[in-house]
Amino acid sequence: MTTSKPNNVRKMYDDTAQHYAKMMDSEIKLPIYGELLGRLHERLENIDGVLIDAACGSGHMLSMYHERFETKRPLLGLDLSPRMVDIANENFGSLAQFMVSDMRDLSEVEDSSAAALLNFFALHHLDPSDVDKALVEWARVIRPDGQLVLGAWEGKGLIDYGEESDIVALRYTQDEIQSKTESAGFEIIRCAVEPVKGFPMDAIYLEGVRQ
Ligand SMILES: C[S@@+](CC[C@H](N)C(=O)[O-])C[C@H]1O[C@@H](n2cnc3c(N)ncnc32)[C@H](O)[C@@H]1O
Repeated sequence: MTTSKPNNVRKMYDDTAQHYAKMMDSEIKLPIYGELLGRLHERLENIDGVLIDAACGSGHMLSMYHERFETKRPLLGLDLSPRMVDIANENFGSLAQFMVSDMRDLSEVEDSSAAALLNFFALHHLDPSDVDKALVEWARVIRPDGQLVLGAWEGKGLIDYGEESDIVALRYTQDEIQSKTESAGFEIIRCAVEPVKGFPMDAIYLEGVRQ
């Protein structure tokens, strides 16, 4: 089974962006995000460069980082869905730059220019070979000693969207995500699998350093 084409994924998120952004207004308050971004902030103490959120959706992660941890860091949010990018710009455009882009090809970003890159809950839209491609691309833009923070749905097989959508999306196991991340040039500092309240799947949270 291969994942749905980017045009179909884009349409699903364009159609649901308003609803998604509203959901994130409360979801962002889950303690895990403060914990991950707090640890990231500590590790970035002596590391200059932009913080990128690849597949930033409604922009809530970058906004939280800015508001809770660091106001000076330049922030760049990238997403496939123009509607998500519009909403991120409307809500948080004064804090960060948001642009339409595909997470597999960040050609607008220079080599080794990013202090860190976030990617939350988007890898399931990529086939295994494209997950590898995206991780290699992120290793290109993150400077040595720069940071990677991932959130991904854990498991095997397809994600069940029920009546909501016929999009085909794939889960990955913790072992698969760890091994792909290491192969792309990252050392893993921490990787945990945890339940997510209100969702039938567990999540993998991975923190890594660019070698
Ligand atoms: C479930 S949402 C997660 C959004 C955000 N990271 C968060 O955690 O709130 C998945 C996001 O991935 C984006 N996306 C899917 N495929 C993408 C791709 N190839 N490149 C960039 N963004 C993509 C979608 O447009 C959507 O905004």
